[in-house]
Amino acid sequence: MTTRITVKASGTYDILLSKGGLSRIGQALKERFKPCTIAILSDDKVFPLYGKTVTQSLEAAGFKTVCHVIPNGEQSKTLDSVTGFINCMVQSQVTRTDMALALGGGVIGDMAGFAAAIYLRGIPYIQVPTTLLAAVDSSVGGKTAVDISAGKNLVGAFHQPALVYLDTDTLSTLDPSVLRDGFAEVIKYGVILDRKLFDTVAKPGTFDLTEVIARCIEIKRDVVEADEFDRGMRGLLNYGHTFGHAIEKLSGFTITHGSAVARGMIIAAQVAAKYGFTDYTGQIAQVVKDYGFETGSPYSAQELYNVILSDKKRSGGDITLVLPKELGQCTLEKMPATRVLELMKEIGL
Ligand SMILES: NC(=O)c1ccc[n+]([C@@H]2O[C@H](COP(=O)([O-])OP(=O)(O)OC[C@H]3O[C@@H](n4cnc5c(N)ncnc54)[C@H](O)[C@@H]3O)[C@@H](O)[C@H]2O)c1
Repeated sequence: MTTRITVKASGTYDILLSKGGLSRIGQALKERFKPCTIAILSDDKVFPLYGKTVTQSLEAAGFKTVCHVIPNGEQSKTLDSVTGFINCMVQSQVTRTDMALALGGGVIGDMAGFAAAIYLRGIPYIQVPTTLLAAVDSSVGGKTAVDISAGKNLVGAFHQPALVYLDTDTLSTLDPSVLRDGFAEVIKYGVILDRKLFDTVAKPGTFDLTEVIARCIEIKRDVVEADEFDRGMRGLLNYGHTFGHAIEKLSGFTITHGSAVARGMIIAAQVAAKYGFTDYTGQIAQVVKDYGFETGSPYSAQELYNVILSDKKRSGGDITLVLPKELGQCTLEKMPATRVLELMKEIGL
């Protein structure tokens, strides 16, 4: 069974979600797009696992494919790597009527999306997410970016995909720690906008993952449709991320993104309680622990504050925090940066 979720942003596109549909990707594209060349970007872990299935299916459906495979990991998410992919498209004479395709996790999705945004001033691209994080978050919504030495995701563009094609069976080959990192984002969706989802995922291993992913995608779709260019409500998706990014950065990226966000969600809940909201720290921390994440911050309030101040999301002297008002209902609270420092000190950081 294939579930279809439609996103109506600056481009309207479908997200097709199935369990076991990867070998039918060619047919799905044939129903939507004219025959063309598809430039596939993937990494050296994902391509050996799924590259053949995808290329064979696309070619059987009448598409020509060219593949560019890069080393896996965040260190590949650079302008140089994007240039490498663009050069591959130039050599393969990819034109504006052709397409790029991201086969991989968030790193590949962000890079292929950015290359597609800038090559020939923009060509269509398809997301085939293969990590839980990419499935529920990065493949939907059109944010693309690469890292530069000054920081992560500092160069990028908004460029919505033409299609997102997800086979949840591909998640079965993920390292357990990579899968777990994705669950931090799943828990996040529950806390920010859906109490029922929070309750469902509160018990690891008791729910249908494909259904949970579909619900997360619907939430992301709703947020993106309401605020495609991240000027307001889309900020809710940063729940746990202000503190999480600071922890990730201070650790020199030895604490993974998901683990850092998990810690950040608990800090945000503690801060919310000091701010005067109901205290949901216990419930959120319990779920986070049940997924095997560590809790607490190895860094002091002052250390976190220094990093938060240098974060690109700060506007003027104020910081906007995403705080849970209820489980399933977060709000954006703008406050002076110094207030954030005080609140962190009050919770004992
Ligand atoms: N654009 C957005 O809106 C957005 C949102 C959140 C995160 N991001 C970005 O996403 C990136 C993180 O994404 P990620 O966590 O998917 O990391 P990733 O793409 O690096 O994937 C993690 C690891 O899993 C491997 N892998 C991927 N799929 C696999 C599979 N099916 N089986 C086995 N191994 C597999 C990869 O090779 C890699 O080693 C970051 O760069 C972050 O900035 C973007």
